[in-house]
Amino acid sequence: MTGDHNGDYGIDGSFHTVSARGQAIGVSAASAGLALTAGISLARGRGLTAALTGAASVGIAASAALYIYATKAGKFEVWNRILDDLQLHGDETLLGMGCGRGAVLLAAAKRLPRGHAIGVDLWQADQTDNSPSATLTNAKLENVADRIELHTADMTALPFEDNSFDAIVSSLAIHNIPGHDGRRRALNEAMRVLKPSGRLAIADLWETRQHAEHLQERGWQHVQRRSVGWRMWYGGPWMSTHLITAAKPVST
Ligand SMILES: C[S@@+](CC[C@H](N)C(=O)[O-])C[C@H]1O[C@@H](n2cnc3c(N)ncnc32)[C@H](O)[C@@H]1O
Repeated sequence: MTGDHNGDYGIDGSFHTVSARGQAIGVSAASAGLALTAGISLARGRGLTAALTGAASVGIAASAALYIYATKAGKFEVWNRILDDLQLHGDETLLGMGCGRGAVLLAAAKRLPRGHAIGVDLWQADQTDNSPSATLTNAKLENVADRIELHTADMTALPFEDNSFDAIVSSLAIHNIPGHDGRRRALNEAMRVLKPSGRLAIADLWETRQHAEHLQERGWQHVQRRSVGWRMWYGGPWMSTHLITAAKPVST
């Protein structure tokens, strides 16, 4: 299965203080400025300066290209494989924590013709033009509007009963919660609302080792943590994504 999709899922990032457009202009200007400096240095016979500034210009451009690839295409390909591996039967109730515009939630919903995909988000500026209406529009474009439900709620205090969901997915969302305690609360909430034997899949940029250790300490089964590879490098290997998968034990 490929990462094909019809909706517009925006760009992941932190746009709380500087807009995506502002950041794009800044990065382009830095890369272009360094390229210009390299050209001038070369013309003046300053070979070392030309080489260093030229390399920096190419590095910034390559990092930006990797970032755009990850958010616009790589994430979809990686998550399609993760969702395939979950081997959903099609009638499950799945929770998407920090679903944003629905990149993962709606891909999951396509695999749930007789089930439900429930998304929770605060619609913050961690993705461009993030809003429930953008997610609903995407749900219609993906032909899954009949099986999704959105809740405006905080992942650290989920408005659901214990043991409510057959599966929980979360993509690049928990790291947006400020502070380790908040992120731990979100993980604990996922652990609470998942049904016994239910499966959890979290892909994120940091604290994934701690998440895996916490799950293991709490007796969760089949806890695995792995890199998802270059397709979800947000700029380079220094911003790589790891996947944690685990199953809730039958008795906790
Ligand atoms: C980078 S976006 C990723 C969205 C989506 N999971 C995806 O992969 O396209 C992170 C999302 O987490 C949401 N978020 C951040 N903190 C949250 C919290 N405490 N509770 C619920 N959602 C939150 C943001 O609003 C944003 O939609």
